[in-house]
Amino acid sequence: SPAALERAESLIAITPDFPSPGVLFRDIGPLLTDADALATVTHALAAPFEGGFDLVAGVEARGFLLAGAVAATAGTGLLPIRKAGKTPRPTASVDYALEYGVATIEAAGDLTGRRVLLVDDVLATGGTLVAAISLVEQLGGTVTGVAVVLELSDLGGRRRLPQARAVFTA
Ligand code: PRP
Ligand code: HPA
Repeated sequence: SPAALERAESLIAITPDFPSPGVLFRDIGPLLTDADALATVTHALAAPFEGGFDLVAGVEARGFLLAGAVAATAGTGLLPIRKAGKTPRPTASVDYALEYGVATIEAAGDLTGRRVLLVDDVLATGGTLVAAISLVEQLGGTVTGVAVVLELSDLGGRRRLPQARAVFTA
């Protein structure tokens, strides 16, 4: 309901100058610890894509939490996309820039024929999700949806991911 969504949104905490000066950091931690807010947001992430995916992927670390919740709710499989150095014999690897640094994601496996819903907590510059799409495609999968809890509209991610669905926008 709109009231449940509004309440969930109010549980996103805002901290200036974290993790580095000039970054206004939005933290979904308090939202995750609240049972109603977590259920509301998990449903809102999955509902637009219902029936259109059979695997949910999330990027380490916060993306794992939401991908796990959505996969369990939707009854699909789960693909944890890992940061560099955690996957034995990765078969796909993508470097990308973050709002506050650089990173590499890796995975292994065959996603041929799989329809993948990508989920994350925040869409900022879009670097993470653009890299994750490329990684899923390297593994042979098809990304049929991209869903985030919160889009930060100042950081340009929307231009790089016009297809993304955001539960909240700031
Ligand atoms: C954060 C966040 C998103 C990403 C958004 O993750 O969880 O994945 O940055 O930024 P972007 O749109 O500019 O790519 P981070 O890499 O900081 O990792 P964490 O989940 O381990 O904190
Ligand atoms: N919150 C969480 N993740 C992020 C943010 C933020 O404000 N900016 C870039 N990644």
